[in-house]
Amino acid sequence: MQVNFKGVAADYQIGPIRSKNIIQQVNLCLPSQSFTAIVGHTGAGKSSLLKTINGLLLPTTGTIQVGDQTITADSPSKAVLKSIRQTVGMVFQFPEAQLFAETVEQDICFGPLNFGVSKQEAKQLAQEAIALVGLEESILAKSPFSLSGGQQRRVAIAGVLVMNPDVLVLDEPGAGLDPKGKDEILTLVKNLHESKGITTLLVTHEMNDVARYADDVVVMEHGEVVAHKPVHTFFDDVQQLKSWSLDLPEARRFQLRIEKEANVKLPKVCLTIDDLVASLIEVGLA
Ligand SMILES: Nc1ncnc2c1ncn2[C@@H]1O[C@H](COP(=O)(O)OP(=O)(O)O)[C@@H](O)[C@H]1O
Ligand SMILES: [Mg+2]
Repeated sequence: MQVNFKGVAADYQIGPIRSKNIIQQVNLCLPSQSFTAIVGHTGAGKSSLLKTINGLLLPTTGTIQVGDQTITADSPSKAVLKSIRQTVGMVFQFPEAQLFAETVEQDICFGPLNFGVSKQEAKQLAQEAIALVGLEESILAKSPFSLSGGQQRRVAIAGVLVMNPDVLVLDEPGAGLDPKGKDEILTLVKNLHESKGITTLLVTHEMNDVARYADDVVVMEHGEVVAHKPVHTFFDDVQQLKSWSLDLPEARRFQLRIEKEANVKLPKVCLTIDDLVASLIEVGLA
């Protein structure tokens, strides 16, 4: 499913005070089945942009199209919001903070039950969702609060996946997890993206993750989208990355170092260590 921002601006109303435009002039098309990373400094508007996709933050101007549904500045109808919230799965930062029920099963079933699914069917869906996130079925009977942080994060993600979203939006889903836990979550997201064709949007600070998992990159600065490029093109232009104070992925950094020391040019932009090894073998340096 495609997500299309046209001339979107948004801000926050805090009591009588209206913040300046937090999101400005965003024109951005995320094609169906794309996997896009959003990067940019803290405060650039990444989380706010995600919130506009399911109407948690309404635009002051412009439109956001999600499939054939459209969000505009005039409060969209309840029916449109309900439909969009069913279609767009949102994994917020530290989503485990929103776990609340007595058992994992009750927590995961909450969404489907709200959307009118029968109890029996919801239980069946919860079993499928818990398997999708790589947890044992026996965990369904446990209290979410008895689980490890990594398991809680997976349960929270299962509670989003159980709605079978066409668009999945994740705000720093690896934050606070150890490297192994983070890689497992992102691999899971990537596999789901590939097997189900879910349009995926991932906010991350970690350039290694951008290089490993995303196909395209969006850069945000001061509420604006300043770049939207395929990942290879993005990491090719080192000067441009410097101007945004963005890091390079490890493999790309090694590549530049090797190219400089050995005075060679490798045939392609290397995003992973595997890419780098293959390129070094190709030019006879390994
Ligand atoms: N709920 C809110 N109310 C008021 N201002 C907010 C709120 N959330 C974010 N902001 C402001 O919006 C700007 C963008 O924030 P955010 O979208 O969280 O950026 P990012 O996710 O890139 O760090 C910041 O200046 C932040 O202070
Ligand atoms: Mg944020």
